[in-house]
Amino acid sequence: MEGTATNESAGTLKSHSGRVHELKAFDDTKAGVKGLVDAEVAKIPSLFHHPPDKFGKASNLEHVIPVIDLTDVNKDPNTRQNVVSMIREASETWGFFQVVNHGIPVSVLSDMKDGVKRFYEQDIEVKKKVYTRELKPFVYNSNFDLYSSPALNWRDSFACYLAPNAPKPEQLPEVCRVILLEYGEHVIKLGIALFELLSEALGLHPDHLKNKGCAEGLMTLGHYYPACPEPELTMGTTQHSDNDFLTVLLQDHIGGLQVLYQDKWIDIPPAPGALVVNIGDLLQLITNDRFKSVEHRVLANFLGPRISVACFFSTDLQSFPKLYGPIKELLSEDNPPKYRETTVAEYAKYYKAKGLDGTSALQHFRI
Ligand code: OGA
Ligand code: NI
Repeated sequence: MEGTATNESAGTLKSHSGRVHELKAFDDTKAGVKGLVDAEVAKIPSLFHHPPDKFGKASNLEHVIPVIDLTDVNKDPNTRQNVVSMIREASETWGFFQVVNHGIPVSVLSDMKDGVKRFYEQDIEVKKKVYTRELKPFVYNSNFDLYSSPALNWRDSFACYLAPNAPKPEQLPEVCRVILLEYGEHVIKLGIALFELLSEALGLHPDHLKNKGCAEGLMTLGHYYPACPEPELTMGTTQHSDNDFLTVLLQDHIGGLQVLYQDKWIDIPPAPGALVVNIGDLLQLITNDRFKSVEHRVLANFLGPRISVACFFSTDLQSFPKLYGPIKELLSEDNPPKYRETTVAEYAKYYKAKGLDGTSALQHFRI
């Protein structure tokens, strides 16, 4: 790790304007991290260097994130009760679980991963046309927080807002438009089912979270983590928690996703046909800390590219005036509200301005 330290101090000595110049030069290529890999760089630029990890190594021997089988969850009351208690336990501790037999056909999952791969591996000139940092129905770039984060991630991403107003097919890239829209519809259905189970896990009416609008908005990120020549020096995605109500994540077979539990990184191993579900900051806020929005990250890898598709339930862009604060039914004299009320837009704006710097945006909204 000595090399890291040397490079880091060289990085910090670099003048601020030199760094901005380098960031801009990278941004202007519009080719993202994949462009660096295509150019066969043997060493990664120092912009991508991260300080050495302050928490120990992953130990997935002690702890295993549960894989919950949703077969018959709507048919058999006993099965439903078991599932609800597993979801409750996972949401209160890890903030993460995986689901199988969730109703989305495995063929749709693999078509979605293929669609993301096709987008990144298409002709660079076609891709450059949609590279932007402006707000559009479809946005492709590298590092959404390029100019604000302390260290870059070895990852390119596209973003697409699928609900409440799905984009028109022609607003999406030709190579993945059909599957993106189809996948979005499936995820919304699954999301509604999960919000019902989560409501029950909180002891509320099954429709409670849905009626609060938690399932109304869906934003999708298609991530591409190219193989990295020096994976130990950088990060695929910096440690963060998600700024939504709930996230449904599809990952491929490469691995590298980890969650922080008791100061240790725990692997979330790829499981065929499974989707990873995690609690977002806004669900932690409205459950008054009962459900946990847990920090997670993705390691860079040298086996890639790794593909993942993250679907965020949030009405981020809609600027709905609706205020969200701790759910009254969950509060008591012993459990007073821990957060002030906020709108989804205000929360998302604060989160994005802060960038992925390893701190939680929730603190800003604590009473
Ligand atoms: C995210 C995220 C994990 C992954 O997009 O917020 O945590 O595996 N993604 O790409
Ligand atoms: Ni995340």
